[in-house]
Amino acid sequence: MEIIRTVAELKAKLSKAREAGSVGLVPTMGALHAGHLSLIERARKENDTVAVSVFVNPTQFNNPQDLTTYPRTEEADMALLEKAGVDYAFIPSVEEIYPTPDTRVFDLGPVAEVMEGAMRPGHFNGVAQIVSKLFDFTRPTRAYFGEKDFQQIAVIRRMVELEKFEIEIVDCPIKREDDGLAMSSRNVRLTPEQRAISPAIHRTLEGSLEWAAGHSVEETKHYVIDEINSFPHMQVEYYEIVDALTMQPITDWNETQQAVGCVTVFCGDVRLIDNIKYPSKK
Ligand code: PAF
Repeated sequence: MEIIRTVAELKAKLSKAREAGSVGLVPTMGALHAGHLSLIERARKENDTVAVSVFVNPTQFNNPQDLTTYPRTEEADMALLEKAGVDYAFIPSVEEIYPTPDTRVFDLGPVAEVMEGAMRPGHFNGVAQIVSKLFDFTRPTRAYFGEKDFQQIAVIRRMVELEKFEIEIVDCPIKREDDGLAMSSRNVRLTPEQRAISPAIHRTLEGSLEWAAGHSVEETKHYVIDEINSFPHMQVEYYEIVDALTMQPITDWNETQQAVGCVTVFCGDVRLIDNIKYPSKK
């Protein structure tokens, strides 16, 4: 595996790789776990060359404390990437990516206005900035993203459409711990007590599938929020049931082919997100 720290070198290496065959890109912010490794494994199967970027992107953090406390584990990350058979690890500095401030504002539309978009102003524009730069530098055949950040994938698809990138966006299923907690780099910040309670998020979402069969969208939302809030340390920030493509909240199960419930929960001061797909009632 080659470790690359400059954009110039990345561009040179990947333009050669593209001449030779397909390129899979897995953008990450490091603190790698089995969830990331499942994306890399898939990219490895489907492409001749695999590149992984490790960059904690400041422009997508609307909360400065979240940026400072975001886990950074470069040495361990490089060992994992090497073992996973990655060809190129791109670990740039902030100055390398943003030699001048990125003032671009993307017209991301309704998919970016709800849920994370409403709670974290500027977050998705920052994601669009960094992912568009990475796509521009690497011009991959395919790029891989995890469905834990369900709305992020919709936003990235919109950015790809706006920028006219010819890149296949591959969404990959959520990877979970044995007790159901969705894998996330933020999980290491949970205290043992919070960690022990945190699987209640997924358990509640799963429980809501049965509940939803006999109840309205509104009742199902209340069920999930009340159930999660009944646990100590846990506070739901939002629970929305949305159309899987448009991200717009639904009020009736018949409004959509695929409803997805997206939740954000503060477990202590750690912000955890998860989601679940409801069977179609259309
Ligand atoms: O999902 C993430 O880890 C980040 O938002 C991404 C896509 C790597 C952009 O910084």
